[in-house]
Amino acid sequence: MLQSSKIKLTVREDTDNPFLLGPFQPNDTEYTVTGPDLKVIGEIPKDLHGIYVRNTHNQVHHPIGVYHPFDGDGMLHAVHFHDGKAEYRNRFVQTTGFLAEQAAGKSLWPGLLQPHLYTRRGWGAIGAMKDNAGTDVKHHNGKLIATMSQGSEPWRLDPITLETLGPDPVLGPRVPDGIASHNKVDSLTGEMMFFNYPEHHPFMNYGVVNAKGELVHYVPIELPGARWPHDLGITQNYTVLHDLPLYFDAAGLKQGRHDLVFNRDLPARFGVIPRFGDNAQVRWFEATTCFILHLTNCFEDGDEVVMDGCIMPDFKKPPVGESDDIYTRIKNNLDKHNNKTHMHRWRFNMRTGQTREERIDDEVTEFPACSNDYVGRPYRYSYNVLYKKGEWLFSGLKRFDLVKGGTARYEFGDGRYGSEPQVARAVGAKAEDDGYVLSFVTDMNANQSECLILRADDMAAGPVARVILPERIQVGTHACWVEGDRIAGEGRIAV
Ligand SMILES: [Fe+2]
Repeated sequence: MLQSSKIKLTVREDTDNPFLLGPFQPNDTEYTVTGPDLKVIGEIPKDLHGIYVRNTHNQVHHPIGVYHPFDGDGMLHAVHFHDGKAEYRNRFVQTTGFLAEQAAGKSLWPGLLQPHLYTRRGWGAIGAMKDNAGTDVKHHNGKLIATMSQGSEPWRLDPITLETLGPDPVLGPRVPDGIASHNKVDSLTGEMMFFNYPEHHPFMNYGVVNAKGELVHYVPIELPGARWPHDLGITQNYTVLHDLPLYFDAAGLKQGRHDLVFNRDLPARFGVIPRFGDNAQVRWFEATTCFILHLTNCFEDGDEVVMDGCIMPDFKKPPVGESDDIYTRIKNNLDKHNNKTHMHRWRFNMRTGQTREERIDDEVTEFPACSNDYVGRPYRYSYNVLYKKGEWLFSGLKRFDLVKGGTARYEFGDGRYGSEPQVARAVGAKAEDDGYVLSFVTDMNANQSECLILRADDMAAGPVARVILPERIQVGTHACWVEGDRIAGEGRIAV
């Protein structure tokens, strides 16, 4: 079966914005493809059960001002694997802003780089953008949750049909500063930890939602000023919050300007808070000045809380460079080669208050992922993306063995670009890497897209199967894996 429904894009064909062209060209059609209409090359493993979901900033309307690739409307792409079969769906996240712009037939909100062009109040930490919910996607308590990086209402979607179910009616009103991207789920307890970072005091809030979807903890976290964090980490007993020296100049903010500053004179600070702790219980650890987008994982090791992620020791604030061309400057910022981004380990000693740091690797990688089953606990493997130099495009995957050392890699090939990988452990898996690594690939040579299924323990061997999508899809980043036995809820635990 193949069903499709088209919406009208108003992005002008003569746009010169590279983030709306080529691999970034937005899609206008929502598909449902099941059965023999979905072409599969190879054989889908019978022990692959669950849903791989990826979010995408898929812009519908011609933008107001300079379009940044983090501005576009949210669109989810999902492949549901079960019994050796696959189904593909893609749907827009129908947020309040998306529906308002659909009704108006044009953009109503500006983007990240020119928020001062706003004419009506928006969402997010800046309060001037559309609630695009196109950054991150996670699954909790039987629903997908799509978020924008700056924080917005937690938009819920059905994990199988991708139907937008609206913002959480209970949680939404209780967290007026929203949920920022990169909430984390402890799959053993079913709890979801999240944060937000408003421009007003206390500048951060931290919360816990239990396995039944109830907000059971929500506390202010006092930061020295408005910050621009992007991730948090969890362990069995703690959450690690980020206070990084990337922020909007306070004097400018008072005058309504958003002048991003990376202050190399300030250390990075990491706040280790008990899962149900409050501001007074945060233990702050200082570390090398840096910015961090994404963590692989955190865990406890004796007296230490260990945090692994991709450090940017030489962060270049956007837009970067001397070029007159704004798009070149955006690319320069997004190309992690310019920020020398690489895998790094921090160890926070809860007894001594000291931080120890360890460089794990030199190669530029980002968007690291580990298996959901190991989030917050000792783990062995991180799966990261490789970057095409000079671009905001993922050229391959690299696996790190963080216990025994060594790496493995798989490159997508010229003109082929992937997304954040996710680890789908095989049904009945015993080993951490008994299962599969999944990524969507946009192939500019073949003008098609596919979902790649690689063996997690042998990525270099290439895909065991490829699910060919009905058309080429825009490249995107963040993704999640919904295990087959978690689709209906946090059913692994008694709730
Ligand atoms: Fe992110």
